[in-house]
Amino acid sequence: MTPGQTLPIPRGRLSSSLVEHLRTGEVRIPSTSPADVLGDEDAQLALHVVYELSYRGYAGVDERMERDDEVLRVRHRLEDAMEAQLRSEVGLVPRDAVALLERLSAPSDGPSLSRYLLERSDLGMMREFAIHRSAYQLKEADPHTWAMPRLDGRAKAALVEIQSDEYGRGVPGAAHAELWAETMDELGLDPTYGRYVDRLPATTLATGNLISLLGLQRRLTPALLGHLALFEMTSTGPMARYSAALAAVGVSERGRRFFDVHVEADAYHEVLARTDLVGGYLERHPEGGREVAFGALALDLVERRFAGHLLDSFEEGSSSLRPAPAEAVAA
Ligand SMILES: [Fe+2]
Ligand SMILES: [Fe+2]
Repeated sequence: MTPGQTLPIPRGRLSSSLVEHLRTGEVRIPSTSPADVLGDEDAQLALHVVYELSYRGYAGVDERMERDDEVLRVRHRLEDAMEAQLRSEVGLVPRDAVALLERLSAPSDGPSLSRYLLERSDLGMMREFAIHRSAYQLKEADPHTWAMPRLDGRAKAALVEIQSDEYGRGVPGAAHAELWAETMDELGLDPTYGRYVDRLPATTLATGNLISLLGLQRRLTPALLGHLALFEMTSTGPMARYSAALAAVGVSERGRRFFDVHVEADAYHEVLARTDLVGGYLERHPEGGREVAFGALALDLVERRFAGHLLDSFEEGSSSLRPAPAEAVAA
């Protein structure tokens, strides 16, 4: 497969030397990582680019760069720094992962992006939201699939069943990533993979990078399962609200199908994820409770930062996206 996406515009020393190294194989990448890796534009973009080498790759970049020494060195450093920050910000992690999942997924009256978007019913905000989510949704389910060869028994069966639904049960065009592309198309956006990465701030890139961070290291498998379980357990309410918000701004059924499909599928996935995926895993690995809980808490943390940025921007009346490249050049 020839990769179609092009390398993004660098945001600092780290990403510029990485991009240059990927093009030439000859640039040394600085070995610094910022204190706030989760919020650092340069670091999150660099990590996103490194991870994409393991998904779709980049036009003009040698596929062997995925295991290039210099690239792996920067990847390990950024991954270690991001994991350390997540563990430090998440703090004390409970051992009873199932109780934690129940608590985190219970309805709350805290700030909610889906409620806000439903109340405002603003097409511009919905389009920004769709652009933000595009980095992950256009490869929806792929990073969680990394867990499959590492599981057995009930947990494996549950993951296969969930992922099969995510991939549209083998029906071309029905994968959730493809439904997301239809939503973008109905919103007048370009659904090409990687198209909007230059517009995505660090807080958005961190949501996708987190799943790859947990997915690409076998050591972190229980955390990946905790992440997926909370994902599924917090889906139906917001999905129903996003669908209603899109309907309110005149988006057709085709554009809302992604959300409507999730309302139905995730009502089942949330039970499967809690009882068989996490339940089955913990039955065989009772020592893994804290790590499952860590994955769920890490998701909760990056999602709060993500939603907080969008809500703050919308309240200020400013764009939640980075300026388009042409605007950035003009500025
Ligand atoms: Fe899905
Ligand atoms: Fe699901």
